[in-house]
Amino acid sequence: MKTRITEMLGIEHPIIQGGMHYVGFAELAAAVSNAGGLGTITGLTQKTAGDLANEIARCRDMTDKPFAVNLTFLPSVAAPDYPAYVKAIIDGGVKIVETAGRNPVQVLPYLKDAGITVIHKCTSVRHSLKAQEIGCDAVSVDGFECGGHPGEDDIPNMILLPRAADELEIPFVASGGMADARSLVASLAMGAEGMNMGTRFIATREAPVHEKVKQAILAASELDTRLVMRPLRNTERVLNNAAVERLLEKEKALGDKLEFDDIMEEVAGVYPRVMLDGDMDAGAWSCGMVAGLIHDIPTCKELIDGIMADADTLIRKRLEGMVAA
Ligand SMILES: Cc1cc2nc3c(=O)[nH]c(=O)nc-3n(C[C@H](O)[C@H](O)[C@H](O)COP(=O)(O)O)c2cc1C
Repeated sequence: MKTRITEMLGIEHPIIQGGMHYVGFAELAAAVSNAGGLGTITGLTQKTAGDLANEIARCRDMTDKPFAVNLTFLPSVAAPDYPAYVKAIIDGGVKIVETAGRNPVQVLPYLKDAGITVIHKCTSVRHSLKAQEIGCDAVSVDGFECGGHPGEDDIPNMILLPRAADELEIPFVASGGMADARSLVASLAMGAEGMNMGTRFIATREAPVHEKVKQAILAASELDTRLVMRPLRNTERVLNNAAVERLLEKEKALGDKLEFDDIMEEVAGVYPRVMLDGDMDAGAWSCGMVAGLIHDIPTCKELIDGIMADADTLIRKRLEGMVAA
């Protein structure tokens, strides 16, 4: 399939794997890229810029296809050394960066000077327009359904994507709630040039996370995610578990007096314990409503090939058949 995004990124299929903390290691990024999509290493999962440089080199050993690095700007206890991470990305010869969180205006000139294509992931039309204005090449429009940080506007993709299409000139991909060919074809119909998936890619053979994480996604329905940290305006969609219920109790009890310190136990340092050790109740970890559409653990190639084959059938048989009648 050829879209503005496949052309811009030099990839075969318009499918991107979004950066995911403690999931986006070289193994997954390389598997997605080798399958013709765009794989993404999560920059800040690497503890230092030196570690990121090694991860980029490992990924390059596993694929000769384009892959991206995600750079997330979120409120954190100790701010990471962003200039050093940017240098590791540039020196590592990475050609595509996915930014998220705050807009990337501070690092953008360095990335653009190095000839890097920047896709900014954001959750609103106004942030998408800002990304366009400061010179990002594309946007990943993340709807309310998404796993991770949906922002505070709560606009689902059925509205957000056509709104983005009406306003944006740069190409965008649909993100949040995407799982299969139906997601892809619907996104294309609403004006997107492809789709970005997070949760779906965790339940793949190559995702280097504990088997219990994959099984938890398979077991979950679309009713099993919760929004946490809304009182801190740092809303995150996570899979419900004992720690999340405890966290929500605290939010209810403390109301607008809630501070980050109150919920440290449920949110700090959780990812390695969940993703690597399989300690499923360690705390709150991101997961999308799309878990309700995930029932298997294919390889990335099986997943992507299946989506593209089904998309072809959907377009040529179901849709074409309807208009031909
Ligand atoms: C476990 C997990 C961790 C994530 N970590 C990050 C992250 O560190 N940075 C980021 O920009 N997005 C992160 N995301 C968001 C994804 O990149 C993607 O935008 C989102 O998952 C899309 O929604 P979906 O899960 O419905 O596909 C994460 C998502 C998940 C499920």
